[in-house]
Amino acid sequence: MTSPAAETFGPPVVEAAAVYHHYGAGAQRVDVLFDINLEVREGEILIVTGPSGSGKTTLLTILGTMRRPSAGRVRLLGQDLGEADPRDLDDLRNRIRFLFQKRNLLSSLTAVQNVMAGVATTPLSHPDWDEERARHLLGLLGLADKANAWPDELSGGQQQRVAIARVMIGLPDLIIADEPTSALDRVSGRVVVDQLKDLASKAKCAVVLSTHDERIFDVATRRVHIEDGRCFDVPIHHH
Ligand SMILES: Nc1ncnc2c1ncn2[C@@H]1O[C@H](COP(=O)(O)OP(=O)(O)O)[C@@H](O)[C@H]1O
Ligand SMILES: [Mg+2]
Repeated sequence: MTSPAAETFGPPVVEAAAVYHHYGAGAQRVDVLFDINLEVREGEILIVTGPSGSGKTTLLTILGTMRRPSAGRVRLLGQDLGEADPRDLDDLRNRIRFLFQKRNLLSSLTAVQNVMAGVATTPLSHPDWDEERARHLLGLLGLADKANAWPDELSGGQQQRVAIARVMIGLPDLIIADEPTSALDRVSGRVVVDQLKDLASKAKCAVVLSTHDERIFDVATRRVHIEDGRCFDVPIHHH
C-alpha cells in the first residue's frame, strides 16, 4: 500500500536513517538520540514535539547540517551529507533557512536590511531588486510601514514576521524552525505558522518545526514525538 504522503507530496527534501547522537565522552557522555528514521518531503510540515531536554534542538540542528550526527546518515536533496565535499555542503546550506524562538534579527540593521540579508550571500542576490523584493515581502506580511524600523522598535510578533520575510526571500527548500512561536502570543504565533504552512504548500519547501504549543499542531502534515531519545510517529487528524 502506498502511504498518503507518497501521493500528496513531492520527493524527500531531508532524510535521516539510523541517526544517533551523544554529547561528551567517558563519564560525561550524554546519549540524546537513538535510531532516528524520518523523511520530510516537499510541501510537508513535520512537527517535532517532546519534553524539554528530549533532543528536539539536537535533531533539528542535525537535519539542518549545523551538527554532524554521532552515527547514521542524513540526506539533503538526495545528497548524503557524510559524503558531500565542502563546496557541495555550502550549496546545500544555501537551500536551508532557520527560524528560532527569538533574536532572529540583527539589531544593527533595519527591518528591510534584515530581509535583504536573507539573500545577500546567495546567487539569488541582485543589487537592482533585492530591496524591492524585501519591501514587497514585508508588505505581504503586513509590515510595509515598518520597513525602515529597527528591530527593537518592533514587537516580538513583528520581529518574527520580518524573520519570515528573510526566510522567504531566500526561496529555501528546507526551513528549520525551532520553537518559532514560543515567545509569541497566540495571534502572532498563528500568523507565523500560517505563513510557514503557506510556504510549504505554495513554494513546495519542507518545514521541520519543533514546538510545545499544541494550538499549532494543526499545521502539521506529519508529527513525531521524541521521548527518551526515541522518535515515535503520532497520528494526525486531517480536517
Ligand atoms: N552542546 C551540548 N553539550 C552537551 N550536552 C548538550 C548540548 N546540547 C544539548 N545537550 C543536552 O542534550 C539533551 C537534549 O538537548 P536539546 O536537543 O537541546 O533538547 P530540547 O531542544 O528538546 O530541549 C539535553 O540533556 C541537553 O542538556
Ligand atoms: Mg530546544
